Amino acid sequence: MGYKDIYQRYTQSILSGSLKPGEKVPSIRVLAQDLGVAKKTVETAYDILIGEGYLVSQGAKGTIVNPDLDIQKTPTAATPPLEDAKLQELLDLRDTPGFLRLGIPALDVFPHKKWLLLSGKAIRTMRPEDMIIPSAMGYEPLRHAIANYVNISRGLNCAAEQVFITSGYKHSLALILQAMTSPKDKVLFEDPGYLFGQKLLKRMVLNLHYVPVDSEGLDVDYLIRNHADARFVITTPSHHSPLAVTLSLPRRNRLLQWAQDTDAWIIEDDYDGEFHYTRKVMPALKSLDTQERVIYVGTFSKTIMPSMRVSYLVIPKALIGKFVETGEIVETGQPLLPQKILTAFLAEGHFFKHLKAMRPLYQQRRMMLYNALQQIYPGIFEFEQTDGGMHIVALLKKGTLDSKLANIWQEHKLMVFPLSAWYAGTSRRYGLIMGYTNVPSEQEALRLVSLPYKETMILLATS
Ligand SMILES: Cc1ncc(COP(=O)(O)O)c(C=O)c1O
Repeated sequence: MGYKDIYQRYTQSILSGSLKPGEKVPSIRVLAQDLGVAKKTVETAYDILIGEGYLVSQGAKGTIVNPDLDIQKTPTAATPPLEDAKLQELLDLRDTPGFLRLGIPALDVFPHKKWLLLSGKAIRTMRPEDMIIPSAMGYEPLRHAIANYVNISRGLNCAAEQVFITSGYKHSLALILQAMTSPKDKVLFEDPGYLFGQKLLKRMVLNLHYVPVDSEGLDVDYLIRNHADARFVITTPSHHSPLAVTLSLPRRNRLLQWAQDTDAWIIEDDYDGEFHYTRKVMPALKSLDTQERVIYVGTFSKTIMPSMRVSYLVIPKALIGKFVETGEIVETGQPLLPQKILTAFLAEGHFFKHLKAMRPLYQQRRMMLYNALQQIYPGIFEFEQTDGGMHIVALLKKGTLDSKLANIWQEHKLMVFPLSAWYAGTSRRYGLIMGYTNVPSEQEALRLVSLPYKETMILLATS
């Protein structure tokens, strides 16, 4: 990505009204890290944007969209001064969910203090209109903040009206199916694929089929050979769940072409696309979607906290009417308070900062777990080179007993999953899927993976 792309994302967002005059934009350092480009690249783009009057630098206070731009202005409510929030002592949360659990952000480094301040403010500023039923599409300022975030960070080009707030992946999927499918529609899912998505689809979809995944991600040629008549494919292009491989660019293009040619829909689950470590950030598949065939599914479960239950869809413009109609019939709206807190967290720049801090931390924690597994279990597991995400797959070099092995590890509160259980077809691989984001140190990584050592070695010796 070059400075021109960044320049274009900003001008597009500003001119479309998605980014409003006076809004704060991420600092050069933070955005460079977020996009995986050199600081100079962002700096050049910002210089031009400032020179052309789109942005204004406010020195140490950061950079904002020029408040004097002749674009329709929205009045901003005066904010009362913040009170000092009383901070609770942090619980040792790591014990609660078990260790090595998948898909949980680092609980020990969450900016609790900031979150508490924003929560207090959201409660204190509650007005009578905040007490009625919230909009089925979601809190308008949050939809706006999400549109800005995905446009700048994930390369989308959407307006706030395309963003639909949901309460998690299953809600997002169920809503899409409800709004768009008829019973005969063929729906495709990845094999292996996200276990909980698979379970939901088995219950909701009559005509469900699977497409294998290899080192380049979803096997698009297989899809076209065997299921060209499908109406939906649900896929995880940034980091496949669970193998963590990234869908290659040629396959991205072929998949989009197929969807365009056949009027099919691609449901892109970008659940942890924010976390890339080993190479340049790959924008979302949706960023290549010139024909509007991709429905984008995002979540704050990996970047903030799963208990908040805030996720979102970005729907093609042509589908807005359908989703609004379905939403008004089947939805009751999401709780307003978390949406307000999250809006402030995004709009005040804390989200970008938090992501920036999490990337090197997760990379470090990933290495700690990886090294500990190599050290304690030499020759037992193997690992494939993957780019990022929040979990690793320790593939068993020999044997097929990953379910029994996972049971043993779970008895030690190590909440790993057996890889084979995530396959739908008969061709399987075996190993353990484990999260590393809450591994706090090298010693702890070694201690944790050593807990089931004896039983592991006995099981593998007898298999
Ligand atoms: C593949 C995949 N998609 C989506 C999600 C997000 O789920 P939710 O937004 O319901 O927390 C997860 C969470 O673990 C996941 O692993």
